[in-house]
Amino acid sequence: MRDKLLQLEKAAFEEVASVKGKEAVLELKNKYLGRKGELAALTKELGKFPPEERPIIGELINRIRGSIEERIQSLLTALLQNEREEKLKAEKIDVTLPGRYIPLGKRHPVTQVMDEVIRIFSGMGFEIAEGPEVETDYYNFEALNMPKDHPARDMQDTFYISADALLRTHTSPVQIRVMKEQKPPLRVIAPGKVYRRDSDVTHTPMFHQVEGFMVDEAITFGDLKGVLSAFLHSLFREDMAIRFRPSFFPFTEPSAEVDIQCVMCSGKGCRVCKGSGWLEILGAGMIHPMVFKAVEYDAEKFTGFAFGLGIERIAMLKFGIDDIRLFFENDVRFLKQF
Ligand code: FA5
Repeated sequence: MRDKLLQLEKAAFEEVASVKGKEAVLELKNKYLGRKGELAALTKELGKFPPEERPIIGELINRIRGSIEERIQSLLTALLQNEREEKLKAEKIDVTLPGRYIPLGKRHPVTQVMDEVIRIFSGMGFEIAEGPEVETDYYNFEALNMPKDHPARDMQDTFYISADALLRTHTSPVQIRVMKEQKPPLRVIAPGKVYRRDSDVTHTPMFHQVEGFMVDEAITFGDLKGVLSAFLHSLFREDMAIRFRPSFFPFTEPSAEVDIQCVMCSGKGCRVCKGSGWLEILGAGMIHPMVFKAVEYDAEKFTGFAFGLGIERIAMLKFGIDDIRLFFENDVRFLKQF
C-alpha cells in the first residue's frame, strides 16, 4: 500500500511537471484528487488494514494529498498570472504617443467688435432691437425723409429686389419699426447686416451696422455727445481725442459725423488718415421732425438723437487692418490672428 501511494505521488508529480493549459491541469486535479479519483480509490482500501496500521497509512494519504494539491495550486496560480500578463500585453496603450491636434476655433474679429459694441451700449441701458434684412422702400427711405427721387438716395447704392422691396442699405429702418410700435422714453440699439452696391478696400457689398437712438422729452445734442463720447472712449482709449463735425443726413437735423484721432499715427498724419490725423467713425444727429411725423410722435414734445456706425470700419481701426475684404475671405491664417 505504501509503495502504491508513493508511486501515485510520483506519477502525479511527473504529470503535473509536463501538463499544459488550465483545462488539462483541472482534469489532472480531478484524476488524482477528485471524489472518484485515484487517491480516493486507494483511501477506500484503508478498511482492509488492521486498525493499528490505519492511522499511519491515513497520515501518508493526507501528506500525499497535500503535496499534490500544493503543486497543482501553484501551477494554476502561475497559469493565471501568465494569462493576465498576456492580456495586458495585448491591450497595451502607448501613453507616450503625442495626442491628435484639434484646432481651436475663435470668434470672428467682426463678431468680437459687434459683441463689444453691444456690451458697452447695454451697460448704458440700451435695449436691442432687430429688423428684416429685406426691407420695403417705405422703411428704408420714405419714412426716413427720403421720398422717391430724393437725391440723398444716391448716397446709398441699393440692391433692389422689386420696385418696392430691397436689401436694407442701413439699420436706420429699425428706428422707424421700433418707434411705430413703442412710445418714448426709448433707448435702443439695432445691430445687423446691411447691403450696398459697393466694393473696394474700405467698402464691401455686405457689412454690419449698429443703429442707436434715444428719444424722450428734452433730449439734447449734449446727450448725443455725452453718450457717443463715453462709447468711443470705452471702445478705444479713455484719452482718445474725438471731434464732432457738421454733416448731412436727411433723417437728422442737425447732423454730425464723428471722427476719432487716427489710431495708426496718433494724430500726426499718415497714409490711413490721408494726412489729416482724424478717422471718420460714425454718423449721427438729432432725429428730424419729419421722421417723428412718420411715426406719429409729437415733435413739439419729444426730441431724440440717432447714430449709425459701421462695425467692419471699427474692426479695421482696432486691429490695424488695411483691406476690409480680408474679413470675408475666411482665410484661417488671417482669422486666427485675432
Ligand atoms: C448711414 O448709413 C446712416 N444710416 C447712419 C446714421 C444713422 C446717421 C442715424 C445718422 C443717424 P453712412 O452711409 O455714412 O450712414 O454709413 C454709416 C457707416 O457705415 C459708415 O461710417 C461706415 O463706417 C460704414 N459703411 C458705409 N458703407 C460701407 C461699406 N460699403 N462697407 C463697409 N462699411 C460701410
